[in-house]
Amino acid sequence: MHKVVLLGTGNLAHHLFDAFTKSNSVSVVQVFGRSAERLAYFKDRTKVTHKPENLLHADIYIIAVSDDAIHTVSQYIKNKKSIIAHCSGGMGLETLTEGSDRGVFYPLQSFSKGRKIDFSEVPLCIEGSSEIVLEKLISLGRTISQICVPINSKQRLAMHLAAVYTNNFTNHLLFKASQICEENDLPFSLLMPLLKETVSKLGILSPYDAQTGPARRNDRKTQEKHMKIISNKQDREIYALLSEAIQTTYGD
Ligand SMILES: NC(=O)c1ccc[n+]([C@@H]2O[C@H](COP(=O)([O-])OP(=O)(O)OC[C@H]3O[C@@H](n4cnc5c(N)ncnc54)[C@H](OP(=O)(O)O)[C@@H]3O)[C@@H](O)[C@H]2O)c1
Repeated sequence: MHKVVLLGTGNLAHHLFDAFTKSNSVSVVQVFGRSAERLAYFKDRTKVTHKPENLLHADIYIIAVSDDAIHTVSQYIKNKKSIIAHCSGGMGLETLTEGSDRGVFYPLQSFSKGRKIDFSEVPLCIEGSSEIVLEKLISLGRTISQICVPINSKQRLAMHLAAVYTNNFTNHLLFKASQICEENDLPFSLLMPLLKETVSKLGILSPYDAQTGPARRNDRKTQEKHMKIISNKQDREIYALLSEAIQTTYGD
C-alpha cells in the first residue's frame, strides 16, 4: 500500500485524488491546500490541512501546485525520510528541496476540474533522484496508469514543449477559428468533423504527410484573400508566419 499526501487543490490535484482513491493500492492520507474553500472537495474522503506543520507522514508526497510554488511547498516537507515528487513538465528535479529523495510524476495530459479523464490512458513521465526512487514512483504510477515512462529532466522539458505545441497552441488556433465563426454567424460545430479527422488520421499518417491546405499547395491567391479578411494585425502575422513555416517545410 502506498501512503500518499497530496499537496495542491487545483485541476491536477482533483484528478490525481480521484484516480488514487479508486486504486486499492494507494491510500491518500491527507490533502494539503491553503484555501479551506478549495479543500472542501476532499474533506469528506480524507484528512485535509492548510497548515504545513500539520502534514502527516507519508511514503510519497506529491506536489501538484503551480510551478512557481513548487520549491516553497517542497520546503514544508523538509526532514521527512520520504519521497517528494512534483508534477510539472517544465521544472527540474532541483526545484524540490535539497536533501530529500526527489522525483517527478508528470502526467502528459490537459486537466480541467469537472472534466472526466480516464487516468489509465494518461502517460506518466517519471523521474527519480535514484533508481530506488524511480522504481517506487513507477510502482505508484502503475496503480493509476497503464503508461509509465521513465524520462530524464532534459527529455521531459522537450516533451513538455511538444505538448505545448500539441495542446496549447492548437487550442489557441481553435479559439481563433471560433472567433472567425462567431464574427461571420457560422456555427463552430461545423468544424468538428474536420477536427476529428485531423487527429484521427494521425493514426496512419505522420503529421508531415498529413498536411494539406493552401500553404502546402502553395495557393498564393487563396492565401492573399484570407489575409485581406483578417482584420487584426497580430492574427495576420500568425497566418503569414504559419503559412511561411509550412512552405519552408515542404519547399516551393
Ligand atoms: N492542469 C494540467 O493540465 C497539468 C498537466 C500536467 C502537469 N500539470 C502540473 O501540475 C501542477 C498543478 O497544475 P494545475 O493545473 O493543477 O494548477 P491550478 O489548477 O492552477 O492549481 C494550482 C494549485 O497550486 C496552489 N498554489 C499556488 N501557489 C501556492 C503556494 N504558494 N502555496 C501553496 N499552494 C499554492 C493553488 O492553491 P490556491 O487554490 O490556494 O491558489 C492550487 O491549489 C503544475 O506543476 C503543473 O505544471 C498540470
